[in-house]
Amino acid sequence: MNPSIHLEPSATIKINSLALEKQKSGQGVFNLSAGEPMVDTSDIVKQSAIRALQKNYTHYPPVAGIPELRETACAWMNEDFGANFTVSETLVTAGGKMGLYMVLQAYISLGDEVIIPAPYWVSYPSMVKIFGGVPKIIETSEAEDWKIQATDVEALITPRTKFIMLNNASNPTGVLYTREELHTILSIAQTHNVMVISDEVYSGLVYDGNEYISCASFPEFKNNVVIIQSCSKSFAMTGWRVGFVFAPQDVIKILSSLTGQTTSGVTTISQYATLTAIEHRKTIVPAIRDAMQKRRDVFIDTFNSAFGTELQKPVSALYSFIPMSAFGISETDSLTFCERVMEETCVALVPGVAFGKEGYVRVAFGVGEEELRESIDMLSTFFIEI
Ligand SMILES: Cc1ncc(COP(=O)(O)O)c(C=O)c1O
Repeated sequence: MNPSIHLEPSATIKINSLALEKQKSGQGVFNLSAGEPMVDTSDIVKQSAIRALQKNYTHYPPVAGIPELRETACAWMNEDFGANFTVSETLVTAGGKMGLYMVLQAYISLGDEVIIPAPYWVSYPSMVKIFGGVPKIIETSEAEDWKIQATDVEALITPRTKFIMLNNASNPTGVLYTREELHTILSIAQTHNVMVISDEVYSGLVYDGNEYISCASFPEFKNNVVIIQSCSKSFAMTGWRVGFVFAPQDVIKILSSLTGQTTSGVTTISQYATLTAIEHRKTIVPAIRDAMQKRRDVFIDTFNSAFGTELQKPVSALYSFIPMSAFGISETDSLTFCERVMEETCVALVPGVAFGKEGYVRVAFGVGEEELRESIDMLSTFFIEI
């Protein structure tokens, strides 16, 4: 293997292998680790994919995406999130993940630094390291609502800083930034000539009537911002692998060339299905959001009454980031804890260490209400007995 590629063993692999072993031996596993809304893709979207097949839309797509989808995706960002993108500032990617990967591949040279707030989505530091970059982690705390402070960002900027990674709304904490907070971060970035990558893949899953503020809604910072979007979460389309990068035209040109030399674009059938999904976003997204809000409420309410805790309801995304003390224990090694929980209760949780924060575990509440209740039952029976 290329020695310059740094791939770290995933902290979640052990939990997954334990879960697989359990399943093989016929035991049911409660999967609170999967980062997706466990609902079916809307029928209207599936029908659109079938029509695309019937029309033989099975050839190579244009590298940057089919023009209708690029136009519609642009309209989605402009109408719903106050952006001002053109088609030439829009690229269709194989999920948000590939979009992010390509941005880092295109711009990170050996030794370049990327500022990443922790807890972070597991892939951020790994991807930066793959390209020889250096993740510079900003610790945040539950007491400060997991938000980065402007002074901490500024203190980490050096001449080698290439990007600030922002994940709004966030996996794993569900943190949501206000317009003022985003303005402060974006202006610091611009002052220091650092680009902001804003990962907005959970922008459709915002609860309790809270407003989502996109980094694309600040015209004064437009040239300094790269938006990562996706249909995976907000449209329940994880397996279709469609996402987007919205960025200045010169960035999109480079990423399109990269796409042309790698994947040749995103599956044509998926693109037509996604076009229909975005056209019907006003019905599809609220339905998924409301279902996820209900599951969140079931999870948090049931957990709090079982464990006598006061966990707050996350205002966005699909996760509750829970201190291990909520289980009535004092240990803080999250990987050992999750292995033990898997072994004893068959409930799959993700250790906080995978997100750069020990002493916590991540629960994904995207599964059905019954599975959420049963999982908490298993957990409370075990923890209340010990
Ligand atoms: C924060 C964050 N960004 C990006 C992604 C990538 O999603 P996809 O590639 O399915 O669009 C995920 C998936 O879990 C995520 O949690």
